[in-house]
Amino acid sequence: MAALPDRLVIRRPDDWHVHLRDGAMLRAVAPSTARVFRRAIVMPNLLPPITTAAAAEAYRERILFAVSGSNGFEPLMTAYLTDTIDPGELERGFSEGVFTAAKLYPARATTNAEAGVSDLARIAPVLETMERIGMPLLIHGEVTDPEVDVFDREAVFIERQLEPLLERHQGLKVVFEHITTAEAVAFVEEGPPTLAATITPHHLQINRNAMFRGGFRPDAYCLPVAKRELHRIALRGAATSGQPRFFLGTDSAPHSREAKESACGCAGIFNAPHALESYAQVFEQEGALERLENFASVFGPRFYGLPLNETTIELVRQPLEVPHQLELGGQSDRLLPLVPFQAGEILPWRIGAAPA
Ligand code: DOR
Ligand code: ZN
Repeated sequence: MAALPDRLVIRRPDDWHVHLRDGAMLRAVAPSTARVFRRAIVMPNLLPPITTAAAAEAYRERILFAVSGSNGFEPLMTAYLTDTIDPGELERGFSEGVFTAAKLYPARATTNAEAGVSDLARIAPVLETMERIGMPLLIHGEVTDPEVDVFDREAVFIERQLEPLLERHQGLKVVFEHITTAEAVAFVEEGPPTLAATITPHHLQINRNAMFRGGFRPDAYCLPVAKRELHRIALRGAATSGQPRFFLGTDSAPHSREAKESACGCAGIFNAPHALESYAQVFEQEGALERLENFASVFGPRFYGLPLNETTIELVRQPLEVPHQLELGGQSDRLLPLVPFQAGEILPWRIGAAPA
């Protein structure tokens, strides 16, 4: 048997789905993403949400300020679709290069999704415009019907919403975000070439038992919620399969410790500090380390029609102990205690020399 490598140099990756927040939280978390990823698709679910090109441009400036000095990091901005968003605004923002994509949150599906879309029929003209101009649609794929079991919401979304939507808009580029089920894997594998999916490190690492390990564990709670083990296995198969429709999107979604550990704890897992290391662990366990680069750095830009990054990043086989808590913050901010994903665990790979 060939010896396992202890060093891996890959093209610098991008994160195709991240929550960078705003204000002190933005200053606390954005450097973790910019340290590793050259570009990131930035989610627009702020309060108020990003619905205009001017708001996206101003937010982009705040992000750049928060990561100043971080090696050419490029935030790719998204528009938050509402029932009343103006298709003309999207088209202008996209043609000016401010918006890279638009995000569909079914109304009330998740954090700050109150202003999301209540009925897809209402945004038919918006979707037609996006299809015509080649603007990708990023979908939080869960139904919000309270009658539907929370663990079934993604599978039901495929049947009730996604399949008919792809039928209606056959030229629309769609990213099914943070998939969590075997049903989603199969649907994407069999779908049209206009369809792709992102997969998070946490859905590759944990199943739903993680939320109930010895008590209730809010740090393992996110949306879509982690499912049974069979789904995790299907996701690991998809991510490491080498199929270009599956690529990296961390869905790193920080919330303060207080907000997580409250009577109504927020959904979201903060994985930005060690996301690439976490993916590397999974790919190695699956015997697919040589496929990490395509998943992390090639399939995403190809789908979006963007150039590949030209610089590289090094991973080295050295134990990395993930802290139980991180205290992060900008220069004059109060430090924010945040619990990172895999807190207290030892990961086998770490990032070596600073990205070239
Ligand atoms: O767990 C999640 N957190 N899922 C989402 O869809 C939103 C995100 C957030 O913004 O906190
Ligand atoms: Zn997200």
